[in-house]
Amino acid sequence: MRLFTRLLYVLPAVGLLLLPEFFGLRASAQDSAAGQIIRLRSIEFNPDRVLVQVGDTLTFINQDPFKHDVYIVRTADPNVVIYPANTLMPGDTIVIPFREQGLFTVYCTIHGGMKGKISTTGFFELTEEEKRKVASVKVLPPIVKTGETLFWDKAQCYQCHRIGERGEGLRGPDLTDIGFRARIQAQKLGLDAATEYLVQSLLEPEAYIVEGYTNAMATVFQPPIDLSTDELTAVIAYLQSQGGEVDTWAINLNQEKLATLPAMNPFRRGDSERGKAVFQEVGCNSCHTVGARKAVSIGPDLTQIGAYQNWTWLAESLLDPNAEIGKEWQYATVYLAPEEDDEWALEELVEGFLRKNTDAEVEILVAPERLERLPRERVTRVEVSELSKMPVNYVEILSFQQMADLITYLQTLKGHALDN
Ligand code: HEC
Ligand code: HEC
Repeated sequence: MRLFTRLLYVLPAVGLLLLPEFFGLRASAQDSAAGQIIRLRSIEFNPDRVLVQVGDTLTFINQDPFKHDVYIVRTADPNVVIYPANTLMPGDTIVIPFREQGLFTVYCTIHGGMKGKISTTGFFELTEEEKRKVASVKVLPPIVKTGETLFWDKAQCYQCHRIGERGEGLRGPDLTDIGFRARIQAQKLGLDAATEYLVQSLLEPEAYIVEGYTNAMATVFQPPIDLSTDELTAVIAYLQSQGGEVDTWAINLNQEKLATLPAMNPFRRGDSERGKAVFQEVGCNSCHTVGARKAVSIGPDLTQIGAYQNWTWLAESLLDPNAEIGKEWQYATVYLAPEEDDEWALEELVEGFLRKNTDAEVEILVAPERLERLPRERVTRVEVSELSKMPVNYVEILSFQQMADLITYLQTLKGHALDN
């Protein structure tokens, strides 16, 4: 795997070396332009230890034939970002003025292990006080931070996933400790390594469906989410950091898979304005809210659906609602034993969307915003319906044009991201 990745780096190098001015000229023109120079060469910062004065500038030049980035944090607290990751294409230069006192670490977030130290204090050591502080801060490579930002925003993962107490996605599994769990899953599925399981989860989610869930994972490398290779790598590094070892070398993305094109959209001649009208006319809005997350509704809120689901999935949810019923929208009947102190009492039933079914309790959403918690001791049986509560006859009621208009409208629903 490692050899393969290195080869990818070497190949473009051959082409670039043919440009005579590529290395020499651009670099030497910069040499005299600004303070000290740090060259990014052979996946290293050169020099990797630099003393500066507050007010000095530092010039970074990428002399490798592939891209790097420069990301500077305070060594004592990597959460304090002095300079956010800035991409340098081959031959690019950036000049960074240094205004703060202290010891800093510079990373390339693309390449694990590529880092250096910058100091304004005359030493490359932390003060005793800082050392004590560091001990209490968990240090992670910066690519993890990039992945984290993507996960909770642009990559839309939070729409369906939680991580412990953070987030409220219910459609997909809680990803707590996924970095650790992936190793176990990989063993079970006969995959080589934990990371292979993570990669597979993103590129071929249908290859293995986590028990208890449905095949609802978005195709994250195609529109509308459309993550690039770098973004996928960062997101996977973030997943690795959840209880596993962060190792970007192990992330081997199948380029062929990434290059598969989205299916041709037969509904592309829809009109979203007309679709919006149809949405009201046929009563979709009696069950679905748009633009009012968490508002009263007895079906999923659709405010952001167009930001993470593609037209294939949207069309299927209209044409065949039973095909895939989101985990939190499965309808269930819960049977309860009669209350013990009342000898006349009969068995009771509670119906609604099944939100939790654990050894401790069963939770049912019986009406909008009304979650009923049922103690396990009283529950005798939980029957989960395989049928969706969404009407299945739209295929007969709607014309092809109305269907196209509706899907086009749903694709435009990309409301604002949650505040995290
Ligand atoms: C539209 C909902 C949805 C979105 C968006 C989504 N996922 Fe998922 N994800 C699921 C569902 C449902 C499953 C479980 C079914 C399966 O295994 O494919 C799942 C499974 C997973 C798994 C395997 C979990 C395990 O416990 O083994 C990982 C890892 C994962 N998703 C990561 C991501 C990441 C990272 C993103 C964002 C780039 C993302 N998902 C976006 C719905 C989603
Ligand atoms: C009687 C209530 C009801 C009506 C009316 C209704 N739906 Fe639904 N809809 C649901 C429920 C419940 C679900 C979740 C279960 C499922 O996925 O099948 C759902 C799921 C969906 C989904 C998938 C959303 C997700 O996050 O899983 C879409 C898209 C959708 N409906 C669109 C529509 C459109 C468009 C109309 C009008 C043509 C409509 N619905 C009419 C109840 C309804």
